[in-house]
Amino acid sequence: MTRRVTVLGATGSIGRSTAEVLRAAPERFAVEAVVGGRDAVGLARVAIELRASFAATADASALGALREALAGTGIACGAGDAAVLEAAEREADIVVAGIAGVAGLAPTRAAMKPGRSLALANKECLVSAGEAFMADARRLGVAVLPMDSEHNALWQALQAGRTEDVSALVLTASGGPFRTWPRERIAAATAREALRHPVWSMGAKISIDSATMMNKGLELIEARHLFDVGPERLEVLVHPQSIVHGLVQWRDGSVTAGLGVADMKIPIAHCLGESGRLDFPGTRLDLAAIGALTFEAPDAERFPCLRLAREALAAGGAIPTALNAANEIAVDAFVNGRIGFYDIAAVVAGTCEAWAARGGGGPQTVADALAIDHESRRIAVGLLSARRS
Ligand SMILES: NC(=O)c1ccc[n+]([C@@H]2O[C@H](COP(=O)([O-])OP(=O)(O)OC[C@H]3O[C@@H](n4cnc5c(N)ncnc54)[C@H](OP(=O)(O)O)[C@@H]3O)[C@@H](O)[C@H]2O)c1
Repeated sequence: MTRRVTVLGATGSIGRSTAEVLRAAPERFAVEAVVGGRDAVGLARVAIELRASFAATADASALGALREALAGTGIACGAGDAAVLEAAEREADIVVAGIAGVAGLAPTRAAMKPGRSLALANKECLVSAGEAFMADARRLGVAVLPMDSEHNALWQALQAGRTEDVSALVLTASGGPFRTWPRERIAAATAREALRHPVWSMGAKISIDSATMMNKGLELIEARHLFDVGPERLEVLVHPQSIVHGLVQWRDGSVTAGLGVADMKIPIAHCLGESGRLDFPGTRLDLAAIGALTFEAPDAERFPCLRLAREALAAGGAIPTALNAANEIAVDAFVNGRIGFYDIAAVVAGTCEAWAARGGGGPQTVADALAIDHESRRIAVGLLSARRS
């Protein structure tokens, strides 16, 4: 039976890998809609390649370019927030959530329809609005499928037992480009250096998050919401080869691990295949060729963002939302050369402290989360200006 798929973030790294998986199994899938941000020409290209029915760009000024690039193809298109929401809501069996950052929250929430599957790559949705997001999914009967590689590995490994018998969920981290660098050298790192990930090829935001190890912190919060396991049972292990993605330690001492080559097409294929596995169109895991797998403890002193995310996870309420918003602002400033590497952690810490001082509860709805996100960005921008003056 053909499954109808919509891809949010179709022009990005996750979107391109998703397109490869879909193209390798054309008899299994039909593409309903594709959504992108600013790259209208790239969006048209992927819409044509995947024979989508509808393409939507978030950039309202790009409608002309998108129309022109789709002329004569019969693919309908739209631009602006309303068009993005329309694309997310259109009839589909499975929606891939691959927009980067909190920009993906409203479209991903709009894609929640009764009986649908939501293949979630966008971790910021869960960091910013985890409880409300998961409550909406349960209420609407939406299956949230973990597409992030570590969570996908854990999800598969968790099939070996019951959640109440889990003693720890361990997420592995490659350690990023600065894993072996001393603190003084990291402090002077440039965006170019931070964007050069040793293992994974990904979008800019997640690449910087990997360099600061905020990515792993965001993933701890993501795991908490996906698997309903408390912070005390969530652990991080640095594993530079990125072959073991996640481990479930059971109360009886057994360990179930999820392994695979570092290729996002694997978790994407697993999510899209749902109950039936797809063929993997890439190189298979060859452990003999790899030879050795190594592991080490994370260093919270050189990578303070990991500690900040852990603290936000423990604090709960509005703090994870604030942490995520401040991180997006600070990462953008770092990529644009406006602040130094460790200023990212300083801006995030300052924003979280400001929220903690205010007290008050966490977001009850996705709309609340967006309001807290908005206010946190304002605080973070203020802290940025103070650091530059
Ligand atoms: N890449 C990975 O290997 C990987 C692994 C695990 C999880 N993830 C998660 O997956 C998400 C996407 O990551 P990525 O690496 O694929 O990022 P990316 O390469 O930067 O792609 C981001 C996508 O989002 C689109 N976009 C940006 N702003 C938008 C908006 N306001 N409305 C609609 N679309 C918008 C972009 O469109 P334009 O390019 O047209 O602007 C692009 O299609 C992130 O949450 C990340 O943490 C990624």
